[in-house]
Amino acid sequence: MELIKRTKIVEILKSSVFDQKVNIKGWVRTRRGNKNIAFIALNDGSTINNIQVVVEIEKFGEEFLKTITTGACISVNGLLVESQGQGQTAELQASEIQIYGAADPNTYPLQKKGHSLEFLREIAHLRPRTNTFGAIFRIRHHLSFAIHKYFNELGFFYFHTPIITASDAEGAGSMFQVSTLNAEKPPIDKATGKIDHTKDFFGKPTNLTVSGQLEGELGAMALGGIYTFGPTFRAENSNTPRHLAEFWMIEPEVAFNDVNDNMDLAEDFLKYVINYTLEQCKEDIDFLCKMYDNELTERLDFVLNNKFIRLTYTEGVKILESCGEKFEFPVYWGADLQSEHERYLVERHFKCPIMLTDYPKEIKSFYMKLNDDGKTVRGMDVLFPKIGEIIGGSEREENYDKLIARINELEMSADSLSWYLDTRKFGTAPHAGFGLGFERLVLFITGMANIRDVIPFPRTPNNAEF
Ligand code: 4AD
Ligand code: MG
Repeated sequence: MELIKRTKIVEILKSSVFDQKVNIKGWVRTRRGNKNIAFIALNDGSTINNIQVVVEIEKFGEEFLKTITTGACISVNGLLVESQGQGQTAELQASEIQIYGAADPNTYPLQKKGHSLEFLREIAHLRPRTNTFGAIFRIRHHLSFAIHKYFNELGFFYFHTPIITASDAEGAGSMFQVSTLNAEKPPIDKATGKIDHTKDFFGKPTNLTVSGQLEGELGAMALGGIYTFGPTFRAENSNTPRHLAEFWMIEPEVAFNDVNDNMDLAEDFLKYVINYTLEQCKEDIDFLCKMYDNELTERLDFVLNNKFIRLTYTEGVKILESCGEKFEFPVYWGADLQSEHERYLVERHFKCPIMLTDYPKEIKSFYMKLNDDGKTVRGMDVLFPKIGEIIGGSEREENYDKLIARINELEMSADSLSWYLDTRKFGTAPHAGFGLGFERLVLFITGMANIRDVIPFPRTPNNAEF
């Protein structure tokens, strides 16, 4: 086969330079045709669109063409010509074909169109080859890139916080332990009868991080503005369409910001990255809109063009108490809002993204700044239509005495947080930050209904396949 440098299909479909010889490589989506000509729809992942390869059967022989079935991978040299068929600009008249790998039609699972999303989850190793998951994972990429671009343009520094840590940032206790001790026969400390972690790899108990925030604060108190973007892990036994055991989180942290600056940043950030992704991934988003969620582009435009509504938790609870709606979980001042409450406020009452602030301190983490009322903290959650909570954040308690008092009140160990407390001892400053659940944002932008369908290999209770 003549050696020609490969061109990506996305480039070919954009170009209008016809009658030149090119090479393309990709996976066969479909093959149809008649006695004389075969039409192969080829996709290489660079775009949702396939290119049509036109093959004269006589030239290649029927036996050879039989092996080019759905899923097979081929390399084709040929002449790029203007397409006769409707809806496509260019097609390739094959002159040489090399089969890299066949895909036995009796066993290749992606035969027909329209497999259910549940079935595709079971073959997550192959589902990126479908139109749906190709679109989702391209969107995921562009969205990640937009996030880095946004913070870079603002002069924030990408700060790498550890994945293995001895701290429980959220104080929620749902952590995956990390240990090299023999699980069947761990060394026991004779004095206490408990597992002797001094013999463990790090000499003490450690876990996978639930949030990079505490270390992120250390960065902000030196570099001014930082963000993290990394995997986080929560061993909550929540089998919901919005929870993963392993998810990616973006956590900006900014010195000298208060809770209002924090809300301004969150709103500007979300609008920027959604807008960028809409521009970059128009065809993929249009496809998902058509296939799964007719209101998707409308909803995205709505979020871009409307100011998020800001209100306090107390105001939100009042609305919920007097709305007459029957909720599964009771709502009263002090209750942790459930997804049904959040979605009522966003989807039915305001019909707009909202930012809730000033939560009761009892339902929020130890590090949030206490308000003068002594009862509420300067937390802020961003709630989105169809998703509920997409961002959680706060202004941080920068006062050493107040922070220590809260740590003691919650019977947490001040000793193990001494490094964190040092920021309050030495040159403390007001600061604020938030955490965006990356997959929740991908859910929102793709219009998918289940978080398992927006990450290549989801990790959920009883599921760590692939
Ligand atoms: O509200 P969370 O727990 O806040 C924090 O972790 C703070 N340390 C963030 C900060 O202030 N720097 O989590 C933040 C976001 C949530 O709003 C949600 O979008 C997402 O992370 N999230 C999850 N996403 C998928 N699966 C889970 N199990 C998630 N838990 C939280
Ligand atoms: Mg939260």
